[in-house]
Amino acid sequence: MRLLAEDKKIALRCDTSERVYIEGSRARLKQVVVNLVDNAIKYTPEGGEVHVAVSEGDGKAILEVSDSGVGIPAESLPQIFERFYRSDKARTRKLGGTGLGLSIVRSICKAHGGDVTAESTDGNGSRFRVELPLSDGTSV
Ligand SMILES: Nc1ncnc2c1ncn2[C@@H]1O[C@H](COP(=O)(O)OP(=O)(O)OP(=O)(O)O)[C@@H](O)[C@H]1O
Ligand SMILES: [Mg+2]
Repeated sequence: MRLLAEDKKIALRCDTSERVYIEGSRARLKQVVVNLVDNAIKYTPEGGEVHVAVSEGDGKAILEVSDSGVGIPAESLPQIFERFYRSDKARTRKLGGTGLGLSIVRSICKAHGGDVTAESTDGNGSRFRVELPLSDGTSV
């Protein structure tokens, strides 16, 4: 993902030093990260920032992907996790995409006993938060 960020001169910062354990499908969870970071890069103009952080809170594993990009209008927020939904902004921007990424992210999170939420101030960046049940790491 770093290469994609470099192409757009986007600074990709990762706070992933904390060891947080979860149980699940490595491939599917990778898909969650890839889809969220892909969106963050895609919907952030050149020179912006994308931040990925992993932490533990409220007894859950938390992955946050935030960006300094175009943001999501309040009226679109409830729909972005639906299949094929793309906000008008995304459609008119001619950025290729089918609107499936986030629905896949949500399905994977739910299948792992967790969920994903989004918050945004239109025009002022977005933040996606994935919460998954913690594991004690003994089966790693
Ligand atoms: N980080 C973000 N910043 C701004 N808008 C976003 C962001 N992530 C998602 N969106 C909005 O939510 C819509 C749905 O996202 P989703 O990933 O499902 O589809 P997509 O990126 O358009 O296409 P695909 O992921 O299938 O290639 C996007 O079209 C865009 O309007
Ligand atoms: Mg996408």
